[in-house]
Amino acid sequence: MLELLALLIILPTVAIAADISVPMTQIRDQGNGQFEGHLTFALTEEVVGWEVVVTFSAPVTGLTQWMGTDIRHSADNKVHYIVNLDYNGIQHAGTTFDITVRGTATGGSAPTATAVLKNMGVDGFTVPPIINSDGTPYNYDEVITKSILFYAAQRSGKLPADNPIPWRGDSALHDSGDNGEDLTGGWYDAGDNVKFGFPMAASTTLLSWSLLQYKDAYQASGQLDAMYDCIRWPLEWLIKCHTGTNELYVQVGDGQKDHGVWGRPEDMKMDRPAYKITASKPGSDAAGEYAAAMAVGSIVFKDKDPAFSAKLLTHAKQIYDFAKTFQGKYSVSVTEAAAYYNSDKYADELSWAAVWLYMATNVSQYLTDAESFYLTGPAWGQSWDDKNTGNMILLYKITSKDKYKQDIEATFTNWLPGATQAGRIPYTAKGLAFRSVWGSLRYASNMAFMALLAAEIGLHPTEYRKWAKSQIGYALGDTGRSFVVGFGVNPPTQPHHRASSCPMIPAPCSWANQQEKGANPHTLYGALVGGPDQNDKYTDSRNNYINNEVACDYNAGFQGAVAGTKLII
Ligand SMILES: *[C@@H]1O[C@H](CO)[C@@H](O)[C@H](O)[C@H]1NC(C)=O
Repeated sequence: MLELLALLIILPTVAIAADISVPMTQIRDQGNGQFEGHLTFALTEEVVGWEVVVTFSAPVTGLTQWMGTDIRHSADNKVHYIVNLDYNGIQHAGTTFDITVRGTATGGSAPTATAVLKNMGVDGFTVPPIINSDGTPYNYDEVITKSILFYAAQRSGKLPADNPIPWRGDSALHDSGDNGEDLTGGWYDAGDNVKFGFPMAASTTLLSWSLLQYKDAYQASGQLDAMYDCIRWPLEWLIKCHTGTNELYVQVGDGQKDHGVWGRPEDMKMDRPAYKITASKPGSDAAGEYAAAMAVGSIVFKDKDPAFSAKLLTHAKQIYDFAKTFQGKYSVSVTEAAAYYNSDKYADELSWAAVWLYMATNVSQYLTDAESFYLTGPAWGQSWDDKNTGNMILLYKITSKDKYKQDIEATFTNWLPGATQAGRIPYTAKGLAFRSVWGSLRYASNMAFMALLAAEIGLHPTEYRKWAKSQIGYALGDTGRSFVVGFGVNPPTQPHHRASSCPMIPAPCSWANQQEKGANPHTLYGALVGGPDQNDKYTDSRNNYINNEVACDYNAGFQGAVAGTKLII
């Protein structure tokens, strides 16, 4: 009971627009206070999860009904709270919904009652669009603001008092390591609720780089403080994961168990095992990425929070030493990660960690290492698994060596349209560089960010910026629809995302909510979905995790590219 009340305090039902209030009707007095009555609601809108609060004129015990679960009642037994069952939370506009109630009232005669039906699919949370006064189509401040909100919606652990997402509460408060180490916090990976350290760190690195490079854009959009908070959240978690000199947690939650449940993070009951890499089970890719994220984080926080910055740098150095000394692939050491985020190599992350440590320290050994681990040749494209593009940009920026410039140019020759050579990236008819059907927009967005960064160091600035803007334009609506939830024209409304598909607590959430045909009850503002297939075809369907899932790594390069694009218009 106490726990339940605590939950209700954390997650108040905010401003429900369409509560329906009715009196109890057709009351039958069966003597000695026993009664039967009907609560009949004429629904005027789609309902995704409901709670009915019945207030009787006298205390009622033995309340029975067959439509929902009587979850609690007031101390005086006058007010009863009923929520839907899994199968009947979804009710349609234009229908009538009737609950027959029976019980025994104190005082010997049938009571009167008022019942209020709350639509738990309504959260009252809207972030309005911003219309550009100059008539240009996209407001980049709005996109940045909403993308940061997406990361707030992915937060795991104890949420701060200023949590902006009214439909999210504390969750996974028992996430811990083998010896009870606190592993709460961090971000849920995507539409599921596993914490995958490798892509989480990769997202943090790119987001932090975007703040380092485009601080002016965050400042101008009014999001600078929000952005510091955005990256601090995963950075704090990465530090927690470093539980010993050569020991680093890289995953919390079992993918299979997690994917077997459709529900909100606040309700999770399954085991959430934690997996680590060690000297005997190494993971230079994951460790390298953690070190990179912390190193760039230490640069970003240097003036803002010197103590936090120093702490990040200390951990980054130790984790890099661990990654370099004990070499191996994390997804071989932690096979539970292999089905989700299998790593193909680790030299790129060793170079990545070293180059960011050089940026943070100017210690020449790091630059020597970064150059020796560097993989020569055009890059596949920046991703959670492939850091070569970022490496060549940073190494060219630092050394001005022609070989890095050549690799950058070869990479973008493959990526820009009109190429004919082997290795070129195919394009959709409407102009999206199409690296893979699985989250096509995220690769194009990552490379848009990289193109803007290459332009910053003087490489083909006009051409690269124009191309970056075209790819971001595709995501934001150039084809007539937006691929960013809660933004622009005809945006996705059914992203494959557990938490936003669930009604408000205390209504239950289940596979029925996954199967429901309408929009997610909560708008997952700012989330970039996977995107179209090679024929520009896209279906806004919650079942489709290839084209319509969202993920921390999808938004990272995208947000950086939007911040960069804001500064070139
Ligand atoms: C590294 O050296 C450059 C050039 O002297 C300087 O601008 C930069 O502040 C130094 N960075 C650090 C972390 O010492």
